[in-house]
Amino acid sequence: MNGYFYEQKQSPIPVWIDLDTGVDDAIALMCACALEAGGKLAIKGVSAVSGNVPLTRTFENCRDVLSMCGRSDIPVYAGADRPLIEEPVNAVGAHGADGLGGNILEPSKAPRETEKAWDALYRCAQECHGELELILTGPETNAAIAFMKYPQLKTMIRRILVMGGADIGGNATAAAEFNIYADPHAAQAVLESGLPIVMCGLDVTMKAVLPGRQVRELVGLGAKAAPFFQASMELVNTIMKGTLGDECTVHDACPVLYAVYPELFTGVECGVSVETRGTLTRGQTVTDWDTDNKFPVRNVLLVRDVDRAAFAQRLMELLAPR
Ligand code: RIB
Ligand code: CA
Repeated sequence: MNGYFYEQKQSPIPVWIDLDTGVDDAIALMCACALEAGGKLAIKGVSAVSGNVPLTRTFENCRDVLSMCGRSDIPVYAGADRPLIEEPVNAVGAHGADGLGGNILEPSKAPRETEKAWDALYRCAQECHGELELILTGPETNAAIAFMKYPQLKTMIRRILVMGGADIGGNATAAAEFNIYADPHAAQAVLESGLPIVMCGLDVTMKAVLPGRQVRELVGLGAKAAPFFQASMELVNTIMKGTLGDECTVHDACPVLYAVYPELFTGVECGVSVETRGTLTRGQTVTDWDTDNKFPVRNVLLVRDVDRAAFAQRLMELLAPR
């Protein structure tokens, strides 16, 4: 397997981030902005996709979060307002109807980009000469459309880092994680791209938490991200009927932090495929790492574990006000 999964790139790493901004997407975007400020990432573009909430909200949320971070200079492009084939689903229970857990932000003053996400991504990839890394934290519809419209894009992307799927379990259903469940056909198209994929599924993201003590520390510091952690804990605790532990998952921060700090994580190289036709199993990601019957293509690093304390410490470093 190539070194794309592990080798440290010289900084800054050029990235395109595609999100269905929701609460944890917002936190991931704040982390990316902090990593860029530290010279670790170069955010070449951001795109919005329908997912947690409709595209009309995710697009504005991406814009407004970047503006809150003082980065309204980063262009945001609107993509798909629905999955490739399936009917739209949402996750308003975990993100609120506005997608940001009720956190009302000052509207961005940046001009609204009119170029479609997939066209802007292709143009950006051409400009990055094969070095662009694609980070997906929502349903993978925009990436799938980009690969279908521009097949040569697959030769221009260095690797893809996703929050999505799970080796075991699910949160949208018993078998499927939300991002993949929402658009299984798109996820399959991305997996069939043949590009190296770092897959941060629930196996790792359910361990990638910020303990309540550190959430309260961020609140005390007046960190911009603090209200998003608080909202997430309240909403998820409601969904879990009061059984949530004193911690906040930050699913979408995982691929962003993996891009810069892969040493925080451990995983296994394998093949992954998606169930697109199942009733009970629609959107299930099937992996071959623990079976003798291997898939023909093994282009995924399935991230399975994280150094929890180090992950939380990195989040604090990135999100605590300087
Ligand atoms: O399953 C978690 C994923 O679904 C995260 O990306 C969250 O934002 C939701 O989209
Ligand atoms: Ca998301």
